[in-house]
Amino acid sequence: MRRIYLDNNATTPVLPAVVDAMHPFWAERFGNASAVHSHGRAARSAVDDAREDLAALLNARASDITLTSGGTESDNHALFGILAPGQHLITTAIEHHAVLHAAQALEKQDIDVTYLHPNDQGLITPDSVRQAFRPNTTLVSVMLANNETGVLQPIQAIGILAHRRGALLHTDAVQAIGKIPVDLRELGADLVSISGHKMHAPQGIGALWTRKAVPLRPFHIGGPHERQRRAGTENVPGIVALGEAARQATLWIENDGPAKLTKLHASFETELLRRLPTSIIHGSGAPRLPNTTSIRFPGVDSEALVIALDLKGLAISGGSACTSGAVEPSHVLLAQGLSDTAARETVRISLSRLTTADDLKAALDLLDQTVHHLRSLA
Ligand SMILES: Cc1ncc(COP(=O)(O)O)c(C=O)c1O
Repeated sequence: MRRIYLDNNATTPVLPAVVDAMHPFWAERFGNASAVHSHGRAARSAVDDAREDLAALLNARASDITLTSGGTESDNHALFGILAPGQHLITTAIEHHAVLHAAQALEKQDIDVTYLHPNDQGLITPDSVRQAFRPNTTLVSVMLANNETGVLQPIQAIGILAHRRGALLHTDAVQAIGKIPVDLRELGADLVSISGHKMHAPQGIGALWTRKAVPLRPFHIGGPHERQRRAGTENVPGIVALGEAARQATLWIENDGPAKLTKLHASFETELLRRLPTSIIHGSGAPRLPNTTSIRFPGVDSEALVIALDLKGLAISGGSACTSGAVEPSHVLLAQGLSDTAARETVRISLSRLTTADDLKAALDLLDQTVHHLRSLA
C-alpha cells in the first residue's frame, strides 16, 4: 500500500542529507564539545558551524542562539527565564501547551497572566494586545504560526506595542521556521523558539534565540555550557543535524520553495473544496502558512476519519487531542469560537517541502471517497 504523510505539523521526516551530516557524530566523531583535546575540539567546531548555519537561516547572530532540546524547552525557558513574581504576562489562548501550561504554572508563582482570544479567523489582533497591557507587564508571548490552523500572527505590530510599553516579546516560531522565510532582524521579537523536528531535523533538538541585551536567567543549572544559559553536555549529533537542516532550509528558500509550496497547497485546497463543497477551512481569511489546512467536514467525526484514512495509507491528524485517555476537542479551535461539534469534525492536513503533486492527487481521492463513505453511514 502506498503511504502518504500529511501530518508534517506533528513532525517532519529527517532529510537524507541531515542523516548523513549527523551520522559520524554518533561514533567516530564522538567527542565532548567542552573537552580541550582534539576529539573535543572537533565536536566544538561542528557545534559552532551548526550554530552559524542556523543563524544564517534566521539572519541572526550565532552568539544569540542557545541550543536546547526542542520547542518545549525553548518556550519554557523564555517564560521562566524572564518572568518574576509580581509581574504580568500577556499570552494567548491558542498557544501550544508548551507556552500555555508554562503560563498556568507561572500563575501559581504569583505571576498574573492574560490569555487573549483570537477573532473568528484565528488572528490575535494588535488592538487586543494593546488593551491588555498593565503597568507591570513584562512579557508578551504570541506564537508566529499556529500549529493547528497555520494562521500567522502580526508579530511585528505586536512587537512595536510591547516595546513601547517597555515589555519584551517572545514568539514561538516552531511551526514557521523552515516553511516560510523568517528574518529575526525584522520580526521584532526579543526571544524566539525553534524546534528541529518541524524542519526536517530529528526530534529532541531546538534553539532559543535571544536578542543580545535580554536579561534571560538560566533554566538548567549546572556547567557553563551555552554561555551559561543552558547547562548540559551538548547533543552534538542533534546540533549538527539542526545546522544541516537549517542549511537545507536556506537552499530551499533561495530556490523559491515557499512560493512553490504555496501554489501546491492553494490548488489542493481549491480542489478539496470543489469535491467536498460543504467543507469549511478555518482561518481561510487570515494569512496562513503555505502548508497547513484545518478543515471541517460537517457530519464526519474527525477521529473516525483519521483512522479510516490511516487504514488506506493516508496520515493526517484530528482536531482533537487525547488528554488523560479522553479525546478532547482542540483548545485552539474552541478559542477561535468553534462549537464542540465543529471542533470534533475538524482535521488538520499539513504538507512539507517533500510533498508532491502526486501525493496530493492521491490524498484528494482518499479524502473524497472516505468523507462520502462516512457520511453515508451516519
Ligand atoms: C507551536 C509549537 N510549539 C512548540 C512545540 C513543541 O516543540 P517540541 O516538540 O520540539 O518540544 C510544538 C510541537 O508540536 C509546536 O507545534
